[in-house]
Amino acid sequence: MKVTVFNGSPRGRKSNSHLMVELLMKGAREAGAETEEVFLIEKDIKYCRGCFACWVKTPGICAIKDDMPALIDLCLESDYMGMAGPVYNMYMTGLLKNFSDRFLPLATPHIHRNDDGSFYHKGRVKRFPRQFFIFNSGFPGGHNFELLEHFVEIVKRGGANRVVLEIYRNCGEALGIVEDEEPAVARRINDFREALRKAGHEMVASDKVRPETVAQLHIELMSDEEYMAGANRHWDQALQDLG
Ligand SMILES: Cc1cc2nc3c(=O)[nH]c(=O)nc-3n(C[C@H](O)[C@H](O)[C@H](O)COP(=O)(O)O)c2cc1C
Repeated sequence: MKVTVFNGSPRGRKSNSHLMVELLMKGAREAGAETEEVFLIEKDIKYCRGCFACWVKTPGICAIKDDMPALIDLCLESDYMGMAGPVYNMYMTGLLKNFSDRFLPLATPHIHRNDDGSFYHKGRVKRFPRQFFIFNSGFPGGHNFELLEHFVEIVKRGGANRVVLEIYRNCGEALGIVEDEEPAVARRINDFREALRKAGHEMVASDKVRPETVAQLHIELMSDEEYMAGANRHWDQALQDLG
């Protein structure tokens, strides 16, 4: 059983996304999986050129020579494929979007109609891994996940059972807090971390994540006011340090 996560944060190994992925992977390993996290920022992934060579010249094969073909192979060898990253301008980072665009060789050219009237391209591969998503936002509240939630809804149209877990974690910049002057906040962050480990374990052990665990992944870490005050204190300090 292999779980691979593609981390699309430009912060790479220093990201909040990585912090979350690591805990989920820990749970997955405890349930017997082999895990791998790929930091997209460390890879050579060029933009899709829109040439459609992968459809009509060399079907299934991209014309660009970079790291992407190996990453697609890695994805297809996996049982679970995760995408992780921060919200940037209300959506996923350019890194993650660029990575997604480069999956075009796995689609076939002809246009088909879904039952709901929308359109799609049939896939070229027989088996695509189950997917999960781990997003975090710098703002409190949930508004900043609206586009990502819609994106995941569209992924689900590709197969009702395809998406096994969705995490939309607000207050992302608080995740690094271990000891806080407010013990209740530290406790909730620890509960959230524990939920990540549990989610990874359940995903691998039973191919689903219990609704209780999903709820735990979305608990309020602190009030909007507390988060805003903490973040604004941080920025004040940073500006003061400038002199
Ligand atoms: C260019 C840029 C755009 C951002 N846009 C948003 C946004 O639209 N909504 C939001 O909640 N946070 C936004 N953020 C904040 C990040 O989502 C936040 O810092 C996050 O915790 C970073 O996660 P990471 O460490 O995994 O990269 C933005 C940050 C940057 C640098």
